Amino acid sequence: MLVDLILKNVKIPLEDRIIECGIAIDKGKIHTIAKTSNLPKGSKIMNLKGNIVFPGLIDAHVHLRDLELTYKEDFYTGTCAALAGGFTTILDMPNTKPPTNTVSRLKEKIEIAKKKIVVNVGFFTSYVSGIKELRRLKSSGAFGMKLYPYDQLGKSVLEDTGIFMKTLAANRVVNLPTLIHAESPQIIDRNEKRLEALQDYSAKAYINAHPPEAEIEAIKKICQITKETRSQLHFCHITLNKSLSLIEEARAIGTNITCEVTPHHLLLTRKIVEKERGNAVMNPPLRTFSEVRSLWEGLIAGKIDIISSDHAPHDLIEKKEKMEKKILPGVPGLETTLPLLLTKVNQNKISIFHMVKILAENPAKIFRIRKKGQIIQGFDADFTIINMKKRSKIDSSEFYSKAKYTPFDGFETIGKPIKVFVNGELAMEDGEILLKPGNGRILYS
Ligand code: DOR
Ligand code: ZN
Ligand code: ZN
Repeated sequence: MLVDLILKNVKIPLEDRIIECGIAIDKGKIHTIAKTSNLPKGSKIMNLKGNIVFPGLIDAHVHLRDLELTYKEDFYTGTCAALAGGFTTILDMPNTKPPTNTVSRLKEKIEIAKKKIVVNVGFFTSYVSGIKELRRLKSSGAFGMKLYPYDQLGKSVLEDTGIFMKTLAANRVVNLPTLIHAESPQIIDRNEKRLEALQDYSAKAYINAHPPEAEIEAIKKICQITKETRSQLHFCHITLNKSLSLIEEARAIGTNITCEVTPHHLLLTRKIVEKERGNAVMNPPLRTFSEVRSLWEGLIAGKIDIISSDHAPHDLIEKKEKMEKKILPGVPGLETTLPLLLTKVNQNKISIFHMVKILAENPAKIFRIRKKGQIIQGFDADFTIINMKKRSKIDSSEFYSKAKYTPFDGFETIGKPIKVFVNGELAMEDGEILLKPGNGRILYS
């Protein structure tokens, strides 16, 4: 038989060893993984020259911003940033304008995304009440429900224990994961009001308004509730040692809880805010060196399930310190995450096998993204090809993202994605995007 494409001379990190082999791809799927001499014939052959092949990487926490916030990012620029950064699948957050919180809004997003995307994209929903609507949202494709301490609708589900419990119970019935931005709305509200009264809109004041207690308080309360509802829960971007120990405690009694950490919380401390000002402001904020160290310990010990970028682009003007207005929190991360983490692999801080788990296999399992996250026969032919030795310097002016800033500007990295395949097609090569808008695929749960 003749398959569409053969990738020869590849190195695949599998469990705990590197396999040297070839991959046959047919109709967008992995057809065979074998010694090159044992592969079927291909209409095309590509020699990957011994570079590392990861399963297509998955970023489960991305704010693409389309529909009405396209001045910050849109489905095309955001997914180009994903490709350039080595991600083949991303999940889009619902805190857009309008928020994704009805079936018709989800469908509207999907229709617009279909024409613009260049990677695989799935969507989360915001808070929705009622099992019927939830069921419809799930069958229309939603991968989970994201809850914020400060909802766009002016109230927070996290604030009201009764509503929160009901929501978790409903999500459990329809088998929808609940994702949480864990910061206590009461603590943040109180602090932000105080700053407003003082008219202190500096980056430092903003960060102080989001203290560790806000995260701890929220995680404590939510873990307690989850012990009763037993629903699937995912904590986004945790930043503290104490958060990890609370989560471990809840897991020990059999709750279904997972958690994520971002590269900025793993690699930066709040010290950098003095230099980077608004460009280093995000929620939750950067913490101390000792927290960073414990996040690494937690990661290495397997207590952290995934790394996500929390790509949260804004316009530059929204990141500047101003006299009269709050800085908007969030940093772009799609184009910095992988080179930064590969640098840590090169420094022996984390193994390449562990990277595959937290950037591909685990997000696929947690959010039940079918046929993705591993290099297995029959799975989708999404691959991220890595040159482990390639050195570069982070330069936000070169981003595909509309957000041309990052607190990592000037950081030197070792290791870079050099090619990306999406559903069997070469989609990115040496930073160049080869797919046309609309060639990506919508994912449905
Ligand atoms: O820094 C953040 N930015 N944290 C959030 O929770 C929201 C996000 C955004 O949408 O900009
Ligand atoms: Zn968040
Ligand atoms: Zn976010």
